[in-house]
Amino acid sequence: MPIIAVIGAQWGDEGKGKVVDLLAEKAQVVVRFSGGDNAGHTIVNHHGEFGLHLVPSGIFYPGVNCIIGNGVAINPAVLLDEIDQLQGNGVDTSGLFISDRAHLIMPYHTLLDGLEEQSRGGKAIGTTRKGIGPAFADKTARLGIRIGELLDEEAFLERLRPILEYKNTILNKIYGATPLSLDEVYQQYCRYGERLVPLIRETTVMLAEALDRNEIIILEGAQGTLLDPDFGTYPYTTSSSPLAGGGCVGAGLGPTRIDRVLGIFKSYCTRVGGGPMPTELKDETGDLIRERAHEYGTTTGRPRRCGWFDGVAARYSSRVNGLTNVALTRLDVLDTLPQIKICTGYKLDGQTIDHFPGSITTLAKCKPVYEELPGWQSPTSDIRDYEKLPAQAKQYITRLEGLISCPVSIISVGARREQTIHKTPIL
Ligand code: GDP
Ligand code: IMO
Ligand code: MG
Repeated sequence: MPIIAVIGAQWGDEGKGKVVDLLAEKAQVVVRFSGGDNAGHTIVNHHGEFGLHLVPSGIFYPGVNCIIGNGVAINPAVLLDEIDQLQGNGVDTSGLFISDRAHLIMPYHTLLDGLEEQSRGGKAIGTTRKGIGPAFADKTARLGIRIGELLDEEAFLERLRPILEYKNTILNKIYGATPLSLDEVYQQYCRYGERLVPLIRETTVMLAEALDRNEIIILEGAQGTLLDPDFGTYPYTTSSSPLAGGGCVGAGLGPTRIDRVLGIFKSYCTRVGGGPMPTELKDETGDLIRERAHEYGTTTGRPRRCGWFDGVAARYSSRVNGLTNVALTRLDVLDTLPQIKICTGYKLDGQTIDHFPGSITTLAKCKPVYEELPGWQSPTSDIRDYEKLPAQAKQYITRLEGLISCPVSIISVGARREQTIHKTPIL
């Protein structure tokens, strides 16, 4: 039985939530493996519409175990809020578990994220200000606190005391901010612990047992490949790896265990925050896509930058993730356009290149080379059968498959679970 990694293949918000919610019907386990509440995964199903930040998108199926893996940084206040909201909507959350190794987002992380962004001025990354960068920096610097530490309140206090003292020095001496009270932070996290401790597990054992039972496991990515700290547009990136490889580390599974890597692509491109985006449209076509598709962030409400499908970035993304299958979302957004452009190369210093540069200074100089295809100008949202798609839509999909060098298995034509075309089986 397969383990399938579902990966954002562009700059995030590709529709991972929708696709995981769809595929989880056949799965027994779904694991979120990276990021934190910077993620916003929208799901529209018979329970309603949800914007999940931390809870895995398999939560709507009773009996599916949903694990927040070791690779996630958890803001307990956000997680508890999310659990309450789900329960308030009649969703059974008894299958939710948390890795004891997942790191905690602490109040100083969110404060520092905002202060650091402010100090960057015009060079701000455009982070979600959820404390993600500072939390993962602390993890690497061995200054992080893991959720499993809440199991022993005395030991937790001894870990928190010197760390908070150090953070207060930075907050106060560098940024002139008011220091945080040890007692308040400690008491607050102990209260979070009272509700979250019962969910904590050695989740790698749970995964090993699921494998023994031959169960289907979905690794749910957050963010997107082009936001990866190694392979994205560094430093305009996030701080944990959204790649399939990150799925192994962030869930606690060996690479040999992953059978399929499903890359989620929008039928065009969007990006929130700063950093280069070669196919960005700063014109009325960009505005039209944004308004038609309501391209505003699930987490921050910020308008997303919109542009044509970037075939160069897509091929690169396919390569660094080892994609085996593609899910193409939001095809319906292009329904009204008379012509659709696809970027097939970049013009750089008079030469055409077909690789994604490692340097953002170089990437910022790249001008997209476009191929133009006819639009289909007819609605696709009610189509469920690939053969029934307009010929121009099939032509567009075939061209993307060629550029990405990977077959498209799923085509999404609307936000709802059932607005999906299964081109080739994946599970
Ligand atoms: P994620 O972060 O990758 O899960 O994506 P988001 O939820 O942040 O953003 C994707 C948006 O597109 C959400 O508002 C979804 O409801 C919506 N969506 C997903 N698939 C489709 C689709 O095929 N068509 C349309 N029109 N909307 C879609
Ligand atoms: P999902 O899982 C889109 C972007 C931010 C910013 C950069 C760094 O919903 O696809 P961070 O807060 O992580 O330090 O911000 O990364 N970003 C996302 N963009 N979708 C996301 O998640 C994102 N998570 C982070 O906008 O540019
Ligand atoms: Mg999102």
